[in-house]
Amino acid sequence: MKYRTLGRTGWKISEISFGAWAIGGAWGDVDDQESLAALHAALDGGVNFFDTADVYGDGRSERLLAQLKKERREKFYVATKAGRRLNPHTADGYNRANLTAFIERSLKNLDTDTIDLLQLHCPPTEVYYRPEVFGILDDLVKAGKLRHYGVSVEKVEEALKAIEYPGVQTVQTIFNIFRQRPADLFFKEAQRRKVGILARVPLASGMLSGKITRDRKFAKDDHRNFNRHGEAFDRGETFSGVDFETGLRAVEELKEIVPSGATLAQLALRWILEFPAVTCAIPGAKRPAQVAENIAASNLRPLPKATMKKIEAIYDGQIKPLVHPYW
Ligand SMILES: NC(=O)c1ccc[n+]([C@@H]2O[C@H](COP(=O)([O-])OP(=O)(O)OC[C@H]3O[C@@H](n4cnc5c(N)ncnc54)[C@H](OP(=O)(O)O)[C@@H]3O)[C@@H](O)[C@H]2O)c1
Repeated sequence: MKYRTLGRTGWKISEISFGAWAIGGAWGDVDDQESLAALHAALDGGVNFFDTADVYGDGRSERLLAQLKKERREKFYVATKAGRRLNPHTADGYNRANLTAFIERSLKNLDTDTIDLLQLHCPPTEVYYRPEVFGILDDLVKAGKLRHYGVSVEKVEEALKAIEYPGVQTVQTIFNIFRQRPADLFFKEAQRRKVGILARVPLASGMLSGKITRDRKFAKDDHRNFNRHGEAFDRGETFSGVDFETGLRAVEELKEIVPSGATLAQLALRWILEFPAVTCAIPGAKRPAQVAENIAASNLRPLPKATMKKIEAIYDGQIKPLVHPYW
């Protein structure tokens, strides 16, 4: 495993880290023992950074990470998120009382006195134009409740606005072979300001593993079943906003350029690592075998120019019109 410096925090974090949404249970049934085994496998493979949220399984994902901390000695970082407990999810809800309460709840779930990294959880765009929200986060850092804070965004424009606030250390954004626009302008700006970038949904919800077939049935409570058109939350979070059939067709072409000895999931993760602005990718995984496969992407050689060009061509030809103008 290789490590990269996360923005101005001074932390060296694993370039393949761990996304803990699925183990919360919003992707069909999960078994906590299996989830814990996946978390242990991540630590065994050198992962030292885990991304979760207070709403993943209503705290179940955070509590699994607290359990991991009890069972292991090595130091690892946990990034969680706040905001999505709001109902309705409005900009006005991002006030001192609510944020403080959400954070206190996460501290309990994580069984800690200080949260390593707290991210605003894809708030309404208007929140980025409310400096007072970032002032509240500065106060929570001063109070010792947070070590650092950042944002998780839906759109490039939100990311560009967020990094104007000097306290924002990280931006989490969807970035993968099916979502390339963040690399156009935002990466340059983030590097200039030394802001860390967490690439989420790196496998386009598993589509870029190449293991999803046309007749795969997703559980009723798996968002890949119920959110394909944005029925419950932003449709860009499910298969990266690419419709199922188009995604499968593009995956067939990508399979032809997988380096020998590697898998498509590894190619997809290695592609993300080709961008030095990215601090880490945070693939989600529910099983130790998935973790092992994903982690190994850190050991792949840099991708040949011809492979990068082919990926660009597949994106430009089949995917770009579906996603580029929206996020
Ligand atoms: N708004 C936000 O802030 C937000 C939104 C989305 C995600 N995130 C974060 O980003 C993380 C990653 O995104 P994601 O989990 O949505 O999507 P992802 O990482 O693109 O896909 C994860 C899913 O792909 C499948 N998978 C993983 N590794 C695999 C492998 N080696 N082979 C085959 N299948 C594999 C698993 O599902 P199956 O085995 O069931 O197919 C897994 O749950 C999340 O866990 C979360 O921490 C944040």
